Amino acid sequence: MCGIIGITGREDAVQGILAGLKRLEYRGYDSAGLVTNDGRDLRVTKRAGKLENLTRALDSQPMTTSTGIGHTRWATHGAPNDRNSHPHLDPSGRVAVVHNGIIENYQALKAGLGDVRFASDTDTEVTAHLVARELDAQDAPDLLLAVRRVVAQLRGAYSICFVAVDDPTTIVVAKHEAPLIVAHADGVGYCASDVAALIDHTRDVAALLDGQIARISPEGVEVFDVDGNEAEPHRYTVDWDLDAAEKKGYEHFMLKEIHEQPQAVHDTLLDRHTSPSPGEPPRLHLDELRIDERELARIDKVFIVACGTSLHAGMVGKLAIEHWAGIPVDVEVASEFRYRDPIVDPHTLVIALSQSGETVDTIAAASHARDQRAPVISIVNVVGSTLAREADGVIYTHAGPEVAVASTKAFTTQIVGTLLLGLYLAQVRGRMYATETADILTRLQQIPDAITQALNLDQEIRELAQRYHDVDYTMFIGRHAGLPIAMEGALKLKEISYLHAEAFPAGEMKHGPIALIEPGTLVIALAPAGHVFAKMVSNIQEVKARGASILAIGTDGSTADLKEHADHVLTLPEPPHELAGPVLSVIPLQLFSYHVATLRGEDVDQPRNLAKTVTVE
Ligand code: G6P
Repeated sequence: MCGIIGITGREDAVQGILAGLKRLEYRGYDSAGLVTNDGRDLRVTKRAGKLENLTRALDSQPMTTSTGIGHTRWATHGAPNDRNSHPHLDPSGRVAVVHNGIIENYQALKAGLGDVRFASDTDTEVTAHLVARELDAQDAPDLLLAVRRVVAQLRGAYSICFVAVDDPTTIVVAKHEAPLIVAHADGVGYCASDVAALIDHTRDVAALLDGQIARISPEGVEVFDVDGNEAEPHRYTVDWDLDAAEKKGYEHFMLKEIHEQPQAVHDTLLDRHTSPSPGEPPRLHLDELRIDERELARIDKVFIVACGTSLHAGMVGKLAIEHWAGIPVDVEVASEFRYRDPIVDPHTLVIALSQSGETVDTIAAASHARDQRAPVISIVNVVGSTLAREADGVIYTHAGPEVAVASTKAFTTQIVGTLLLGLYLAQVRGRMYATETADILTRLQQIPDAITQALNLDQEIRELAQRYHDVDYTMFIGRHAGLPIAMEGALKLKEISYLHAEAFPAGEMKHGPIALIEPGTLVIALAPAGHVFAKMVSNIQEVKARGASILAIGTDGSTADLKEHADHVLTLPEPPHELAGPVLSVIPLQLFSYHVATLRGEDVDQPRNLAKTVTVE
C-alpha cells in the first residue's frame, strides 16, 4: 500500500528519496511522486505507473535539494493518474503533503473551505489547503502548530507529512492508525512509512504512536502529543540487515523467500523452551507477556482474527489450540469481526495474526476486543509494529523482512507461531505434561530439514507448471489441516497468476462444487497420510470419475495409494507431527504458483491491484 519517505539535511535528498521509494515498492502502488523544498519553491514531480516513470521525469529536470518528501500511492480516492498522485499542494503552492490512509471526513472539510478549486479527486489534498490557511492566519508561521490544528480536525487513518516553503529544512508528520517511523542520523532527519526505506541510513528508529506529531529537521526529531506536550515514541533498533532486504541472486523476492523458509522456521523455533531460573524445569514462553498467566489459564474461548494468508495460518492454529489446549476456537476474517456483535469478555482470548502487524482491519479487530477487556495475543513478524505494541502478549515469527506481496515465509512461521501458542496455552492450563511439551518441541525442530526436502521438488513442480499454466480454473481440496493449505494454495495462485482458483473442504464437494468439474479441470488435492487420508481418497475418486486431472500432494506414507488415483503425485516427507504437516504441504503450492506466474510472464513480486500491507479498511 502507499509508501512515504522524507529526508531533510543532505544535499542529495532526491536520490535518497528515490532509493527509499524503491525499497517501498514491494508494498504495492500505482503512482509515485516527490516534492523538494529549496526555500523559494516547492517543486512537485509525480507520475502514474511505476517508479521508473518518476525517475525518468526527474532525469530531465535534475534537482539538488536538502529537503523533500516522496510517496508511492495505492489509489483509494480518485483514479491512479498523475493528477491524483501525491504530493499535493495548496493553491498557493506554499504547503505540500503526502499521506497514507483515508481521511474519512474530507468532504466536510472541503465544504468548510468554501468555493475553492481542488486540483485532484483525493481525500488528501484538502489537508494542504487547511495547513496553508492555518499558516496564513499566524503572525509567525509555525508549521508544527498549523499541522497540529489541522490533524485535530481529521477523522480516519493517516500517516501524513507536510513541508512548507517558509520553513525549508523542516518536515512535520502526524500519525493515527497508519504506521510512521522517524529517525535521525549523522545530521539528517528522516521519516518513512516502513523501516525498509530507512535501513540504508540507520537502524535506530522510532515508531510514532497514535496521536503523535513530530518535527523533523537536520538538528533532530522532536515528538509531541496532540496537545503539544513532548511525547515519547516507541524507540527500537532494527535487527535485520540490508542483505535480508536484497534478492541475493534470486530472480524474484518471492522465490528467495520461499527458499528462506528452513531458516525462518528454525529461527522462529529457537530458544522458546528455557528454564525461568537455573535448576527449574524448562517452560515454553512468549516473547513479550504483559498479562498474568493465571488470567490466561481462565480463558474459555478463543477468537483468531487475521486477513489474507495470515487467516489461513490462523485456521491451522485453531486445530492446534483445540487439540492441545482444549479451548474452543473461532477463526474470523478481521474485517468482519468488529462489525457484528462477537461475544467477547475478559475470559475470551483474541489472537491477532499478522505478518506486518499493521493491517488496519486486524488492528481494529484487536482493539475492539480490548475495549471489551479481552486479552489479546499477537503473532507478528515485524518487531515494534502496532499489533506487537498493543497486544498483551506477543510471539514474534522470526522470518526476517518479507518483501514479495505474496506471503510465503511469513505464513509458515505463523503456523509455527500458532503451534507454539497452542502448546503454551496447554502449559498454562495444565493440560499437558512438561515431558509431552518437550517431546513435541523436539520433534518440531525437524521441520526445517523437512522443508528443505520439500524444496527439492522444485524441478518436478516446474514441469507440472509448464503443463498446467494455461488452465483457466483450478480447484484445491483438503480436509482437516489440509483445508487451510488448499485455501492458501488457491489464494497464492490467484494473487500472482490471476487465474481462477477456489478451495473447498473435500467432503463438501458433493454438495455443489463437484458440478464445476468437467474433463480436464485441474484439481489439486492435499492428501497426506493421517486420520482423514481414506476420506480424501474417496473424494479424489469422486472428482476423477468426472474427468478431472488430479495433482495430489502426499507424504511418504500416502503416495503409494495416491498413485493409483491421481495423475501426478508429489511426495513430501512425513511431518514430525500431523499439525506441522501444513508447513510442508504449502511448499509445493507456493512453488507451483510461482512457476505458473513466471511462465505467464506476470509481475510475481508486485501483482496487480494488491498491496503488501493493507492500511485502509
Ligand atoms: C495483504 C497481503 C497478504 C497478507 C494480508 C495480511 O493482503 O497481500 O499477503 O496476507 O495483507 O497481512 P498481514 O501483514 O496482516 O499478515
